[in-house]
Amino acid sequence: MSPLAGADVQALLADAAGRAGRYLADLDERPVAPGGAALAGLARFDEPLPEVTGDPAATLALLDEAGSAATVASAGGRYFGFVIGGSHTVAVAAGWLATAWDQDAALPVMSPVSARLHEVVTGWLAGLLGLPAGTAAVSVSGASMANTTALAAARDHQLARAGWDVQADGLFGAPELTVVIGEYAHSTAVRALGLLGLGRNRARRVPADDQGRMRADCLPEDVTGRW
Ligand SMILES: Cc1ncc(COP(=O)(O)O)c(C=O)c1O
Repeated sequence: MSPLAGADVQALLADAAGRAGRYLADLDERPVAPGGAALAGLARFDEPLPEVTGDPAATLALLDEAGSAATVASAGGRYFGFVIGGSHTVAVAAGWLATAWDQDAALPVMSPVSARLHEVVTGWLAGLLGLPAGTAAVSVSGASMANTTALAAARDHQLARAGWDVQADGLFGAPELTVVIGEYAHSTAVRALGLLGLGRNRARRVPADDQGRMRADCLPEDVTGRW
């Protein structure tokens, strides 16, 4: 249960919206990296674990006053540090609403709207990528989980083809799989191989061309034609 009710709820959410709106509006003017004063201001967060509920408006104000200035302005258009997209206002707004929904989307009965949106987006993606009707999809948190999920599906499928149920019987004693990755495979893919028991160092690296693509003529001879 929210400790707030009625007008207090509206006031707190309006305060958050105002602070977030001002933060986004300032992005083009402020330095991308936080300055020394902003970093020193993070000391305001050093406090003992509270034993009682605090004032929600004061907590929000502290987050904004000490936190906003100490962010990296990756949500704006002047950040080129890593491969990180800026935030679209419509996505921020939709995210707020989705946060208010607080849905557990594990089952359609637990969130009909989440299930329907998932179906719609899956259809869109299948169309965009030219995938067949009946294509299943799963939304994940980012590149790490995307690589892990895809490699887990590939591992399970290949082992099933070899007559091994890895979900039931695990990897000990399983038929050996050969994993082939490109010279410039992303670090998240390598970490996923470790997590899935396929081994970070067992994967066979294939040289890449000047676009970073695996060179088909360099694929190991003993695995070509076995896909
Ligand atoms: C080193 C590193 N780790 C992780 C990620 C991906 O993070 P996430 O799984 O949150 O998308 C990236 C993205 O390119 C990265 O470069």
